[in-house]
Amino acid sequence: MRASDDVRPTQTKVKHQVLDEYLKAWTGIIFWGIRHSRKFVSTSPRFVYVDAFSFKGKYTGGDMDSPRKDSVYGSPVIGIQRLDKFTKYASKNGMPVITNVILLEKNPETYQLLKETLEEIGVGHRVRETTDFGSLRNGEIAVANVDATKMGDKLIAYTSQQYIWSFYLLDPWGPSGIPYEFVQKIVSAPRHDVMINFIYIAFQKNLGLIRKQQLGPREQSKLDLWEKVFGPEIWSKIVYAYRNKLLTGKREKTEVTQGSVVKYLDTLQSMDPEIAVKLTALQFPDKRREMLYLFLTTHDPTGALKLNEVLAEARLLEFELRHRARIAKPIRRGQMSLFPFDEISSGIESLDSSRPDIEEIGNTIMKLFAGQTVQLKYIYKKLADTDYFPGEVQKTLKILRRKKRANFEGSALSNRTWITFRNE
Ligand SMILES: C[S@@+](CC[C@H](N)C(=O)[O-])C[C@H]1O[C@@H](n2cnc3c(N)ncnc32)[C@H](O)[C@@H]1O
Repeated sequence: MRASDDVRPTQTKVKHQVLDEYLKAWTGIIFWGIRHSRKFVSTSPRFVYVDAFSFKGKYTGGDMDSPRKDSVYGSPVIGIQRLDKFTKYASKNGMPVITNVILLEKNPETYQLLKETLEEIGVGHRVRETTDFGSLRNGEIAVANVDATKMGDKLIAYTSQQYIWSFYLLDPWGPSGIPYEFVQKIVSAPRHDVMINFIYIAFQKNLGLIRKQQLGPREQSKLDLWEKVFGPEIWSKIVYAYRNKLLTGKREKTEVTQGSVVKYLDTLQSMDPEIAVKLTALQFPDKRREMLYLFLTTHDPTGALKLNEVLAEARLLEFELRHRARIAKPIRRGQMSLFPFDEISSGIESLDSSRPDIEEIGNTIMKLFAGQTVQLKYIYKKLADTDYFPGEVQKTLKILRRKKRANFEGSALSNRTWITFRNE
């Protein structure tokens, strides 16, 4: 393990914030969906957090952007603590839930440290070293020193069972962690939401190999791994674009690299046309042009729009961190800006934090649904590609009703509310 692993980089901090906020939103959306549907009279729903590439659960050197060097916790602890809070929330709101956490880590030393972290936070008595996930009792945490990519079938056999909702974090260090077949199994399974941290630095380093005339076996195997990530069809498009673009400077290379990352959206969508896929790209002050690309897939239409809110929040945090870094390290005369690629390639949401106005949302909705009667959940699904928030959509629908362009019963909207739109 490298010494620098002990300090939590800024992008990891933002990733952790997105993870925690999204887990909170995800549990809430599903909980209330089930609670309102009254399907679960006797069976308690089960929520599972799977951290397939756990690391040791702790960054002993503290945060890179903070002068305080107290330890901070990693994604396994975030997942455990979030589900524990959710368990209390669910009981208080009249529908107890069952929760489990599954933590996988391939490196034996890191795995030992992970177990120590779990002891340290007081959950050691809930930990079981097992891959027999079906045997987990309420609140238990399965840990295993395994290669996650070989565990796909076993994981899915458990998390695809009826009454189970699961959230997977796929956060490896390199492309070998996210081969197409492994990711497909997970994202396409019912009631599965997935967050994937795309390893930009490794991708950026390896992409240049495409233009080399002669590749050694090690170099070739690196490119082969990326082909396995994207799938042969999309990878061949990336190779074609990279070979045939006139790349004269660093900036062009960066743009093509970023554009290629965006292609991973197509890869994920090709795994299951039913899922909504979101990408957020964040830039950080720690190193020049260092990027964090998070992909999220969800089967829940509200989840896709809720995610917009979570991402907007994360983006605000990112702005704050950038601002702090600017103050800390003033740019010297003649030096390039710390953030030279503010206008990132098309397909990635812009960093503009202003919100679309209600009239614009209203026009989009009327264009899609005029003359139709549909349920609110269908409207959310259709709007998954926009950056609207669920609250903004609801507010717009109420205004459309006031203007007699739409009609629905009652004052509160739920996913199942039927809405009739005027023919215009
Ligand atoms: C980027 S770190 C994860 C960081 C963690 N998610 C967090 O946010 O705190 C990736 C971890 O995955 C582990 N790893 C790499 N390949 C793996 C594999 N095939 N199966 C399981 N773990 C793996 C590495 O040893 C490393 O600890």
